[in-house]
Amino acid sequence: MLEKREHWGNRFGFILAAAGSAVGLGNIWKFPYITGENGGAAFVIIYLLCIFIVGVPVLIAEVLLGRYSQLGPVTTFRRYARKHKTFWVAAGGLFFLTGLIILSYYNVVAGWSAGYVVESISGHIAAFTSSGDAAVHFQALISSPWWILSFQFVFVLAGGLVVYFGVKNGIEKIARLLMPVFFIILVLLVIWGISLEGSAAGLRFLWEPDWSTVSFNTVLTALGHAFFTLSVGMGVLLTYGSYLKKDDNVFFSGIMIALLDTLIALLAGLAIFTSVFAMGFDPAEGPGLVFNVLPAVFANMPGGSIFSLLFFSLLSIAALTSTISILEMLVSTLLDESNLSRHRVVIGTSAMIFILGIPSALSFGKWSHLQLFGRSIFDVMDYLSANILLPLGGLLVAVFVGWYMQKREVHDELLRGFGDSYGKRRVTAVWFDLVKYAAPVLIFLVFLSAIGVLK
Ligand code: TRP
Repeated sequence: MLEKREHWGNRFGFILAAAGSAVGLGNIWKFPYITGENGGAAFVIIYLLCIFIVGVPVLIAEVLLGRYSQLGPVTTFRRYARKHKTFWVAAGGLFFLTGLIILSYYNVVAGWSAGYVVESISGHIAAFTSSGDAAVHFQALISSPWWILSFQFVFVLAGGLVVYFGVKNGIEKIARLLMPVFFIILVLLVIWGISLEGSAAGLRFLWEPDWSTVSFNTVLTALGHAFFTLSVGMGVLLTYGSYLKKDDNVFFSGIMIALLDTLIALLAGLAIFTSVFAMGFDPAEGPGLVFNVLPAVFANMPGGSIFSLLFFSLLSIAALTSTISILEMLVSTLLDESNLSRHRVVIGTSAMIFILGIPSALSFGKWSHLQLFGRSIFDVMDYLSANILLPLGGLLVAVFVGWYMQKREVHDELLRGFGDSYGKRRVTAVWFDLVKYAAPVLIFLVFLSAIGVLK
């Protein structure tokens, strides 16, 4: 708390950094495979509803809370909860814990994507002749502790290095550099995918809904993923918001971030499903979709090794800008709660994240026999954090901003930097009602359905 709080260079830097946080493995690795598992277009529609009815309002609330407090999550609640302070400080602790869990296993998958950049360059991927080959190769790699832990380590190191340099010189700089590169690669991949013969089946899969596969669990998955993909529900955007100056427009920045994130998920879905269908592979492959199926797709298509190199670079960039944001939340929490220096905290937290990630990393090979509720350690981490802790975190943010802060305070904070657009009071009133009523009720219903009360 001794240091003066850093701020973003400008609003655009914030939007890029926050979009960098939002756009991640969630968009390119997870969104396509859960869409594949849950019936394509029908899932996409439910997901979009979750994003815009619940995700975006809570996202704006979270950024707003951060800008209001200019503090990390735990300290925000410690300072501003007027009632039930212990509860709210514990809620901040929950954010921290969720961040630790997500970051630990996220780095593992991020490590795979970096590993696959190397595989693409070394020509291994071009040599596959069937998806069987690709799957065997993937299995061999992820069950080799040496391979998996070294790339995980590389990734933890890279994220740590960026955060070490701070908000403006580390995070914002990297986002300004990498986000445009990311976007160009993605657009190339989409054009390439669509131009393949037989890509139309992939387009149909994404646009024509099949409602027969939809259940409550589909809605839970969609809602959990809406939070995950927007980076909402564990204080990351609160932290990024706390580096905003008071004259920035929180409302429009929030909407921009969500639009960018959604656009990029849909584009990634396009690039992936057009290729998967054009090459005759199965879209419902699960978490291995981009690692088992895509390499085989690449190997069989014209220009595949460049495509593969571009794709895994894309995945690595997306993962890096996201891991940075989670690490920054953890670091900022510790900085605000202690007298330690940024450098020390970054080194300590990174080491801890690496160690915590080891069980997830090994759960694909050596430790695959360790199971909890029939799931591997990795799956438990993923399910617990994405489907339970994040919606819970989103609920806490909505309740705090909707019910614990004073309405006038919230409106003043939102309208600061808003400019004089026509109808702003009506827009902000709708937003407030979504945060206060719609979001908590919907999240609660989905929870009930998840534990089997509603069927
Ligand atoms: N949104 C990122 C993705 O889609 C992951 C992520 C980054 C995240 N920061 C987060 C998820 C904070 C939840 C909360 O891959």
